[in-house]
Amino acid sequence: MSGTPLPGDDALIAAAREARSRAYAPFSGFAVGAALRLRDGSIVTGVNVENATYGLTMCAERVALFSAVAQGARPGDFAGVAVAGSAGDRPTTPCGACRQLLWEFCGDVPVACVSDAGGETRYRMSELLPEPFDGSLLG
Ligand code: THU
Repeated sequence: MSGTPLPGDDALIAAAREARSRAYAPFSGFAVGAALRLRDGSIVTGVNVENATYGLTMCAERVALFSAVAQGARPGDFAGVAVAGSAGDRPTTPCGACRQLLWEFCGDVPVACVSDAGGETRYRMSELLPEPFDGSLLG
């Protein structure tokens, strides 16, 4: 369901916006920041990291997710996601690959997508990735 507010959401969005300033995006010029809220209240951020071959680029969402996992987080530990992009009025939503990873680690959490111009759209992961494939299908 869209529009579900998450306690502490504003701080999470602010963290994603602040992280965006550290994006490494010299090839696309499209800076993205992501922030993950953990159930213990902490926030882990990430930025997109590009490279000259383009294809090895890593999105901000996965950088944040892998950083959280490196700090000890596991599936079930996540409470929300915020993504801050650079598309003017249009909020940036996670790419398909990131939706898969966010689903597997975060489940059906609220996702706040914001633009640099202030636009904001709220989703749940189940809206962004309906009928997902995940470990429950592996038997
Ligand atoms: N990007 C992200 O980091 N997250 C998204 O949700 C969408 C796209 C990055 C990848 C690349 O560095 C740049 O934005 C343009 O696609």
